[in-house]
Amino acid sequence: MIGKLNHVGVATPSIERSVALYRDMLGATSIGEKFSLPEQGVWVCFVDLPNSQIELIEPYGDASPLKGFLEKTPSGGQHHICFEVEDIIAARDDLRTKGATILGTGEPRIGAHGVPVIFVHPKNMGGVLVELMQTPREAHA
Ligand code: CO
Repeated sequence: MIGKLNHVGVATPSIERSVALYRDMLGATSIGEKFSLPEQGVWVCFVDLPNSQIELIEPYGDASPLKGFLEKTPSGGQHHICFEVEDIIAARDDLRTKGATILGTGEPRIGAHGVPVIFVHPKNMGGVLVELMQTPREAHA
């Protein structure tokens, strides 16, 4: 059921500062534009790697779910990992059958790649916040 590693989510108090780190410290050359996902309370910016992406996320608005994370880790840090699945509803239902808790309402939301995503509670995944996203259609081409 688990597919490709799509991205690693990294929380940061400043996307601009993090972009500078990936560019200047690690030599990243393909870095997207910052954009907001108001419904999820985050600013997002993707750093492209040969085999994956880093998703930089910064709190957007006072109700951002990232605020608590950054209060505990003010400098930012690794927040979640995202794997692709063929069918997000089938994946969610399978996880629920196995006793996992899906965060939020449990209904998929449209994520940063424009496809439905869910988040699995870290208590069910050894302390790792796992995002599952439905494989984008163009990836099949
Ligand atoms: Co993500």
